[in-house]
Amino acid sequence: MCGIVGYAGGRPALDIVMDGLRRLEYRGYDSAGVAVVDAGAATLLTEKAAGKLVNLEKALAERIDTGFDVGATGIGHTRWATHGGPTDRNAHPHVSADGRVAVIHNGIIENFARLRASLEADGVAFTSDTDTEAAAHLLAGSLVAAHADELAGPAALAEAMRRTARQLEGAFTLLAVSPDAPGAVVAARRNSPLVVGRGDGENFLASDVSAFMEHTRSAIELGQDQVVLITADRIEITGFDGTPSSGTDLVVDWDVAAAEKGGYDFYMLKEIAEQPQAVAATLLTRMPDLDFSGVQKVIIVACGTAYHAGMIAGYAIEQWARIGCDVELASEFRYRDPLIDEGTLVIAISQSGETMDTLMALRHAKAQGARVLAICNTNGSTIPRESDAVLYTHGGPEIAVASTKAFLTQLVACYLVGLRLAAARGLSAPGVQEALRAVPDQLRTLLESSGAIRELAYDLATARQVLFLGRHVGYPVALEGALKLKELAYMHAEGFAAGELKHGPIALIDEGTPVICVVPAPTDALHDKMVSNIQEVRARGARTIVIAEQGDEAVAPFADAVIPVPATPALLAPLLTTVPMQILACETAAARGHDVDQPRNLAKSVTVE
Ligand code: F6R
Repeated sequence: MCGIVGYAGGRPALDIVMDGLRRLEYRGYDSAGVAVVDAGAATLLTEKAAGKLVNLEKALAERIDTGFDVGATGIGHTRWATHGGPTDRNAHPHVSADGRVAVIHNGIIENFARLRASLEADGVAFTSDTDTEAAAHLLAGSLVAAHADELAGPAALAEAMRRTARQLEGAFTLLAVSPDAPGAVVAARRNSPLVVGRGDGENFLASDVSAFMEHTRSAIELGQDQVVLITADRIEITGFDGTPSSGTDLVVDWDVAAAEKGGYDFYMLKEIAEQPQAVAATLLTRMPDLDFSGVQKVIIVACGTAYHAGMIAGYAIEQWARIGCDVELASEFRYRDPLIDEGTLVIAISQSGETMDTLMALRHAKAQGARVLAICNTNGSTIPRESDAVLYTHGGPEIAVASTKAFLTQLVACYLVGLRLAAARGLSAPGVQEALRAVPDQLRTLLESSGAIRELAYDLATARQVLFLGRHVGYPVALEGALKLKELAYMHAEGFAAGELKHGPIALIDEGTPVICVVPAPTDALHDKMVSNIQEVRARGARTIVIAEQGDEAVAPFADAVIPVPATPALLAPLLTTVPMQILACETAAARGHDVDQPRNLAKSVTVE
């Protein structure tokens, strides 16, 4: 949520900042902006524009030769709006009234209304509706104070940032540049991501490593409540009180090509195609050193797609390990005063590792004495750092806002945890390991024959609504299919437990309503019940698209279209049945002319509650 980049070094900052923003645009695309300091002339230049990065690129093209090209220090921001609409005037950077500092921000400054009122009482005129602008004015005032204390240059800007950070409440990553500190970028971090990239004669700051990984693989994760100053050849970290401090070294092992489109029309299509490899890599992941033997209860917390992975994990953990497993929306978890103790294992699932709701749930669980295991795709992010142990998924960078390969790898990680929990209780799940090892090849087969699914998408594109039905683990798959279609195609889509249909939702069905049905294997006890549910909706005029095991003849008479998937044990089926849903949503959105990788109103990493 909001992408942030900073650069200090010998190369033109604007190019590096803009490249970084292109890689971070998935974090938010309501507006974008940059500020650079021309070290020679000691001037501050800013440009910003509402809408996607392309609008900023156009605006900058008109300002070429105005000094933007020579600045060696710069910051850039791509916004997901919180306070204030997605307009030019609310775009970052925000410049203080005296023009001495430019600030960009990710997060929410919770006491901003109070700060704003007090600044306005002192005669400061605000020019935007954002919480960030208050930080810009405070920083300018603190810089004046630091100068009065006979500090100068970068040291003054760093001290001003510390004084400012101490006055702020909430979640923030702030980056600032000033013509009074040419050659320096200063940042503060609390509850919001920030990593430093250590280069040769240059240094970087960013919300995540993808912004600078083409320049350096050496990074430092900042801790909570730290201020960092970077220049071309210095990185200085302190606490908000000025005590010298340090971060945690990190080597970036993601492949640069993995963060590029590689010939696909959309990142999402590329990421769907990468799933066999991502699943195979995650199957080899190292289990963390965590003693599973004392676990008496499991609670899974997650949001959105990761929550759907958690729901499926709940079925597997209870069946294999015979241990109670609650699955909770992270945003609801701590408000119902959940029963937690030392015997509780809380599993926090998050692709980004930065989702604020999940982070807050994790903190609540830890405070109640639970042990927390993170399942995460992003090395060095906050959720794994604050957990007792982490199991990393190996999806590689997921750029498309809609999650695909992260979901499948989360499932794999959950299955591995389920098997480990079962083993710790002297139980086993015969055949599951072998079946898991077969999944990458089965996914390849499924993807190779996905042409027919694309055809179906053209029909869906004109529908008024689309319903998804499933039973048992097919139910979360139905929810996931509906979520994908909502977020990408902006269509009314809903997933239901098929047994619930007759308790109300069946009234939604009229002539031609597409209903996508996830059918268990023919050998499964629920197979025939699901086939009956398909008949029920068909009888009311629904057009049924049925995802069923290869060779399942029983569904054919009631299906307008069948999407066959390879056979696997029931609990593992979501690894295969979800894939047609992903392709359907992606192609339907494309057919409706939407931006598949950057759907409206969304951002990849949701760092506000
Ligand atoms: C949907 C999607 C979101 C995320 C959710 C949690 O396609 O991507 O629902 O799954 O915002 O994000 P993470 O996994 O980063 O915590």
